[in-house]
Amino acid sequence: MIGIYFSGTGNSTYVLDVFLQQYNDDSVIFSIEDEKLIEQLNNHDEFIFSYPVQYSTVPKILRDFINKNSNMWNGKKVFIIATMGLFSGDGAGVLGRLLKHHGAIITGGLHLKMPDSIADEKVLKRSLKKNKKIVENANKKIKKAIIEIKKGKYPKEGLGILYRIAGFFGQRLWFGYKTRNYSKQLKVDKDKCVGCSKCVKICPMKNIQMKDGKANANEKCTMCYRCINQCPKQAITLLGKKVIEQTSVEKYLK
Ligand SMILES: Cc1cc2nc3c(=O)[nH]c(=O)nc-3n(C[C@H](O)[C@H](O)[C@H](O)COP(=O)(O)O)c2cc1C
Ligand code: SF4
Ligand code: SF4
Repeated sequence: MIGIYFSGTGNSTYVLDVFLQQYNDDSVIFSIEDEKLIEQLNNHDEFIFSYPVQYSTVPKILRDFINKNSNMWNGKKVFIIATMGLFSGDGAGVLGRLLKHHGAIITGGLHLKMPDSIADEKVLKRSLKKNKKIVENANKKIKKAIIEIKKGKYPKEGLGILYRIAGFFGQRLWFGYKTRNYSKQLKVDKDKCVGCSKCVKICPMKNIQMKDGKANANEKCTMCYRCINQCPKQAITLLGKKVIEQTSVEKYLK
């Protein structure tokens, strides 16, 4: 089995790694940003995806990756892990439907609550202790799921009509319209930016360039929050006006 992930702050990478280490030591994991992944898609029939839900939808970069490689999914078996800060309704389902559209067979879905990656909204920030507990609980949930999967019982979280209704009415109906232009709204505070170029190097969308010694954002952000969480000067924001707390899964593993 090949693990495939997209991740902004490491949650989705971490849970996939934990899952596969317990499920099968031989498994390897690839980021969708890794060019070597395409070869793996050709040579394998079974995959596990891990990704962060964004308002109960799939981040644009992952959606584009799946559509761009649309001929790769026919007949492939796919299990989906959706990570989330609180609630997604049909996180696994929304990616499952896209893959199914391209011929994949969805074997199951698992929803894992993890620390929230949105760094610039106070209401979403939790204490270090609480986030550590959240990660601990995710680990327990993975362990339980694997015991069931090994008995042939795949969890089906996020799959099916009731989850879909929850995802639509709980999230997409309200946020779909509101957030449609957010890919253009990443802001860099030029007074805080010291021109270190870190954000340029880590952005998976090549959405940031340096101009006159300062970072400058374009209009194709996939809202992964990677740069916002890693900028050493907390100069980047998207949804909120200032960075409240920078997140990275490593902080919650110690
Ligand atoms: C733009 C954006 C939208 C998000 N929307 C949701 C959401 O609808 N529901 C939820 O529970 N978490 C939401 N989150 C939180 C992330 O899904 C969660 O923190 C995820 O585990 C981050 O994974 P990563 O570290 O792999 O990027 C959102 C995060 C971002 C950046
Ligand atoms: S990471 Fe922050 S300080 Fe460095 S270039 Fe980007 S915005 Fe400026
Ligand atoms: S600009 Fe920042 S938040 Fe947007 S895609 Fe790039 S790294 Fe992610």
